Amino acid sequence: MLESPIAEQVFSGQDGAAARALEEKIQRGDDKPMGAVYLVGGGPGDPDLLTFRALRLMQQADVVVYDRLVSPEVLELVRRDAEKIYAGKERAKHTIPQEDINRLLVRLAKEGKRVVRLKGGDPFIFGRGGEEIDTLMQEGVMFQVVPGITAAAGCASYSGIPLTHRDYAQSVVFVTGHLKDGSVDLNWPALIQPDQTIVFYMGLQGVQSICEGLISHGMSAETPAALVQQGTTRHQRVFIGSLTTLPDIVHRSQVKAPTLIIVGNVVRLHDKLAWFEPSAAN
Ligand SMILES: C[S@@+](CC[C@H](N)C(=O)[O-])C[C@H]1O[C@@H](n2cnc3c(N)ncnc32)[C@H](O)[C@@H]1O
Repeated sequence: MLESPIAEQVFSGQDGAAARALEEKIQRGDDKPMGAVYLVGGGPGDPDLLTFRALRLMQQADVVVYDRLVSPEVLELVRRDAEKIYAGKERAKHTIPQEDINRLLVRLAKEGKRVVRLKGGDPFIFGRGGEEIDTLMQEGVMFQVVPGITAAAGCASYSGIPLTHRDYAQSVVFVTGHLKDGSVDLNWPALIQPDQTIVFYMGLQGVQSICEGLISHGMSAETPAALVQQGTTRHQRVFIGSLTTLPDIVHRSQVKAPTLIIVGNVVRLHDKLAWFEPSAAN
């Protein structure tokens, strides 16, 4: 019981739900293992950025269903004999359709497995975590969500680009730069507000459209912009340019996914504040 999903409910402050689940289990008189799904944010790559809760659940898991963005170093920390199922997604190539992932999680939990659904970054930021727990809820499966460090926070810290700064930016927006039918459909006027940092997730393929869109809606073509590839890992690469030069940098330097785009005057701080040495990282 001390290692069961009921104990995990207590650890996460769901005392009422834990008491009800325990009561039901006693009433039923069964000793079948209880299944649960833990939707865990695996962070942007550096395993030291996992939360204690994420690590504890990863080490108790019977099955781990993981995404492409989960770094090998993070996956390494999963319990050795846990079954590992790859559910990764690449652009335009969905390894397992989302509905099948939802059904898989429900089935495994109903078989009595402790399932860790391990995602890159934070499950609730461009992670479809909401859809997955919606299904679990409908199916009456016990679950928890464990937040992770999202790519924006990780890449900003490890590239020395604070997303807000008293002199440069009072707000920050996280946007998807995902191409739909070859273009990026965004609320441009809301994005080009002064003193605001814009962070584009999934923007690499659409970098040209993003830069053109911002410029044509009134943002200065000289606005500083950064690309952070594989942020927080020893493979991290940071490129600094402007809205005019960014598409060319992507092409010339063969920038690869996963990459985050940061646009705004805070990017100027990189020269002064960069501290992380990827080659020296674990
Ligand atoms: C589907 S979104 C998932 C975001 C994730 N849930 C999070 O909170 O970071 C994938 C995008 O996140 C960004 N990303 C994730 N990890 C990254 C990393 N280590 N370095 C740079 N960008 C990253 C990239 O823009 C990538 O295309």
